[in-house]
Amino acid sequence: MPGRFDFHGRTVLVTGGGRGIGLEMTRQLAAKGARVVVVGRDADALAAVTAELGQVVATRRADLGAPGAVPSLAAWMRENHPDCSVLINNAAIMHHLDLTTHSLDRLEAIDAEVAINMTAPLQLAVAMLPLLRTHRSAAVVNVTSGLAIAPKREAAVYCATKAALRSFTRSLRDQCRASGLPIQVSEAVMTLVDTTLSRPGAVRKYPPARAAADLIAGVERGQDEIWIEKTKLLRVVHRLSPGLAYRIMRDR
Ligand SMILES: NC(=O)c1ccc[n+]([C@@H]2O[C@H](COP(=O)([O-])OP(=O)(O)OC[C@H]3O[C@@H](n4cnc5c(N)ncnc54)[C@H](OP(=O)(O)O)[C@@H]3O)[C@@H](O)[C@H]2O)c1
Repeated sequence: MPGRFDFHGRTVLVTGGGRGIGLEMTRQLAAKGARVVVVGRDADALAAVTAELGQVVATRRADLGAPGAVPSLAAWMRENHPDCSVLINNAAIMHHLDLTTHSLDRLEAIDAEVAINMTAPLQLAVAMLPLLRTHRSAAVVNVTSGLAIAPKREAAVYCATKAALRSFTRSLRDQCRASGLPIQVSEAVMTLVDTTLSRPGAVRKYPPARAAADLIAGVERGQDEIWIEKTKLLRVVHRLSPGLAYRIMRDR
């Protein structure tokens, strides 16, 4: 039985760590004695994290949807943070689009969502493997969504990217195990959380600090799948009646 995964003294790469759930992860990981490398596009958000947490964070400005951004980030990590032993693929965007209207105008938006939510985390996980495998133990955590289990109508592309990331996470875990790599590959199935990604509405949303704490605790326990808050119930409903799960999530 492997021991508890300890973040103390580790260097952790958090994409989208300057805002939302990622910012809460950055704060909590720093409080656990980790050094956190935060990636995002917004220079002000990155500067604010540094101002708040000081030397325990390093920042890297990057648009993970831009061509070449992932190999460049991975090379920079190998050069500047060879001690990095954890990757948290957290950055994502969500578009609400009716694809049946103005269909031809939607293609660029589809490209961007697929690049940021799917291509970037897949490539980054693979590009970081040469570095991660040099450590006695390491982890890759991919943040998916309850919408990977049952999609919502208005966010068709987002849901498709998260379902793809969920599938990829399972295969990567299997490949790491088959190759005997000491890399824990986890999926965090995120619930509806109170950040700018989720649309304002009447539905009660989980606080980002609690979502981050649950994710971190799941990694510490070595969980393959970390079901956060209401996604635990969704998992059960989907097992018993996929049709009911689809109906519940379709209009959320
Ligand atoms: N909030 C929810 O209800 C919910 C539900 C299920 C799953 N999730 C998942 O949880 C994760 C975190 O979401 P959140 O709610 O914290 O969202 P958020 O508040 O909108 O934060 C998204 C983060 O991703 C970064 N990001 C977006 N596009 C990027 C790009 N092209 N390059 C680099 N960084 C980029 C943003 O930084 P910059 O803007 O500075 O680039 C920001 O730090 C995502 O994977 C999301 O899919 C969220």
